[in-house]
Amino acid sequence: MAKTTRKKSGRVRHWRTAANSDRHELYELSVQGTESDCAFIDRVFRQRQHRTPHSLREDFCGTGLLAREWVSWRNTNTAVGIDLDPAVLRKGRERIASLPLAARTRIQLKKGDVNKVRTDPADVLVALNFSYFIFRTRAQLLEFFIHARQGVAAGGMIVIDAYGGSGSWSIGEEERSLDGFTYVWHQARVSPITHEVTNHIHFRFPDGSEMRRAFTYVWRLWTLAEIKELLIEAGFHAPVVYWEGTDRKSGEGNGVFKPSRSGEACEGWIVYIVAEN
Ligand SMILES: C[S@@+](CC[C@H](N)C(=O)[O-])C[C@H]1O[C@@H](n2cnc3c(N)ncnc32)[C@H](O)[C@@H]1O
Repeated sequence: MAKTTRKKSGRVRHWRTAANSDRHELYELSVQGTESDCAFIDRVFRQRQHRTPHSLREDFCGTGLLAREWVSWRNTNTAVGIDLDPAVLRKGRERIASLPLAARTRIQLKKGDVNKVRTDPADVLVALNFSYFIFRTRAQLLEFFIHARQGVAAGGMIVIDAYGGSGSWSIGEEERSLDGFTYVWHQARVSPITHEVTNHIHFRFPDGSEMRRAFTYVWRLWTLAEIKELLIEAGFHAPVVYWEGTDRKSGEGNGVFKPSRSGEACEGWIVYIVAEN
């Protein structure tokens, strides 16, 4: 439920409104789960590589929330985040400034195109929240995976995610009530021919105000088979899809992702895909 404060007049004032909210903060609160991402990366890396991962490169890092979480996760961890947009990087750097000094020295946000920037090879390269769906042809996605592979150390891993299911092909809005605001996922356009989709994120507030189209994504909805094939073409080994288990009581996802060969025909799913260099 939205937190509210009571004015002296007795009128209730809502603490979040479209006018006083930062869309990047709302985005982080709505769609990012960086603690569970770090736990997943750590667990799967140890299982597959039999050692502890330390260096992480976050492509399409936005405000670099995952990179920040990673350097706080273990005091030997380092992170490099890459994004094209100077405005999100500015936000990210402001937040890095509030990390303890020891963590601050182990994180760097770089402005650049993920397909051009060169970095020291990392144990793990991540591209989450479907950011690589901006590549809308096979050739473009292959180019991204080839470039990403150059950023992964030998014996390292790429970790990406993907979504799908019958519901991803329908037009409509899905609302989720969060801390003082409502997150709205709006699937506005889907093309069964090109597999292109246009999705928006809107934020609505208890005072009736709205931040419409706070974010818009024009993506290709890639299938898991295509993604696995392209990872192999780019030189990665053994791509594995990690499918989320189901909570028996609620029927919803339980947050536990395990390797799966076939998945399940459900309305909506999100998976991690992991491949080795
Ligand atoms: C959906 S946000 C992802 C934010 C965050 N990584 C997450 O997991 O939620 C996508 C980001 O990709 C950035 N971006 C788009 N094309 C890019 C490119 N070619 N190189 C680097 N960043 C890019 C955008 O500026 C945007 O900040």
